[in-house]
Amino acid sequence: MSYTYSVFKDETKLDISYVPARLIHRERELRLLEEFFSFIFKTPGKMTQRVIIAGAVGTGKTALAQRFGIDIMKKAEEHNLRFRYIHVNCREYRGSLFLILHHVVSAFHPNFPRRGFSSEEMLRILMQILDEQDVHVILTLDEFESLVERDGSEAVYKLTRLQETRLGMPQRLSMIFIVRSLKPLESLDPSSRSTLQSNIICLDAYTQEQLVDILNDRVKLAFKPFTVMEETVNLIAELASSEGGNARLAIELLWRAGKYADAEGFNIVTPECARKAASSIYVLAKKSDLAYLGLHEKLFLLGVARLFKESDRAYATLSELERAYMIVCEEYGETPHSHTQLWKYLQNLAAQGILKAKVSSQGQRGRKTLISLLGIPAEELDKTITQLLGRK
Ligand SMILES: Nc1ncnc2c1ncn2[C@@H]1O[C@H](COP(=O)(O)OP(=O)(O)OP(=O)(O)O)[C@@H](O)[C@H]1O
Ligand SMILES: [Mg+2]
Repeated sequence: MSYTYSVFKDETKLDISYVPARLIHRERELRLLEEFFSFIFKTPGKMTQRVIIAGAVGTGKTALAQRFGIDIMKKAEEHNLRFRYIHVNCREYRGSLFLILHHVVSAFHPNFPRRGFSSEEMLRILMQILDEQDVHVILTLDEFESLVERDGSEAVYKLTRLQETRLGMPQRLSMIFIVRSLKPLESLDPSSRSTLQSNIICLDAYTQEQLVDILNDRVKLAFKPFTVMEETVNLIAELASSEGGNARLAIELLWRAGKYADAEGFNIVTPECARKAASSIYVLAKKSDLAYLGLHEKLFLLGVARLFKESDRAYATLSELERAYMIVCEEYGETPHSHTQLWKYLQNLAAQGILKAKVSSQGQRGRKTLISLLGIPAEELDKTITQLLGRK
């Protein structure tokens, strides 16, 4: 058959270079950024601004700045203001101020020669170009740490004290600095630090609920209707939130889970696809760790594996797992251990990152413990444990 079915409608919406039209749960930060730079339209040339965006991996720093950049470019066009938003990843230029500035200059003069200039001269040339073209710029220095690490205080000083050498001239160059942590800035000399630390926007790690919203939005954009199970989205959000609330990881897991579904010829993306995706990204439960588990922990895990393998679910209750464990015990001719024992096994397996237990908030019959299998596909777990237990 030449036609192969795909769960995807538009995979590009899951690409890292895609800038989402809506930044869910970052509306407040986006407004704050707009507020900081509103002077560009009110009093162009009269002032400049510096803003730091700080947050851990995958908290949406780059996406926030890029969304802001696209929006402000559009607004500037409506206002007939000569304005450019330029986004540079410092790491791509090995943290070299010279190479970064060369890149910025090239945005105005492609093929600008690289040789024969120092970074001070490059900065002077840039300002001259901005004056000649009567243009205002917001320059975002993404992954700014790498510039601080390589070129240190001096580079930061040159950038931030720029206007002081241009007394009486229009102010043209504002900056956004993106960092994962404010720590590296502590190594700067006090004057560079003080000019930097005026406006800081801190992005908190996404909660599991926020990740669910972000994922659902992408599901709508990238997948055909009804191809991604709600349980799958919940499991991915759970995985990504236990890895520090990282939206990039969440979106990558979603994409890979879809890829697994396509590869297996499924027309829906099940939680097992997400577990397979996760195990291909990081192996939480190394097979060798499983070998050190006690006999009944292995039997319990085998029950877990069977239950998740046979159902398309992400979560199970302890009593359901207990039942699965009892069936396995029968099969292996072992007397099942008590409920209290199982509870201890669960804690141990959770501590090792193989299982995760959480207390559900909903449910008519009060609170229940919901258990999910993380980091290893049920099928692989079943195979590995069965092997470890040997023939019976
Ligand atoms: N609020 C959000 N709504 C929709 N998508 C988001 C949101 N936040 C982040 N994303 C998406 O998650 C991924 C990671 O975000 P981003 O690249 O901005 O993280 P980051 O904070 O820059 O991480 P790093 O420190 O690794 O550079 C991107 O694909 C981005 O589009
Ligand atoms: Mg980034």
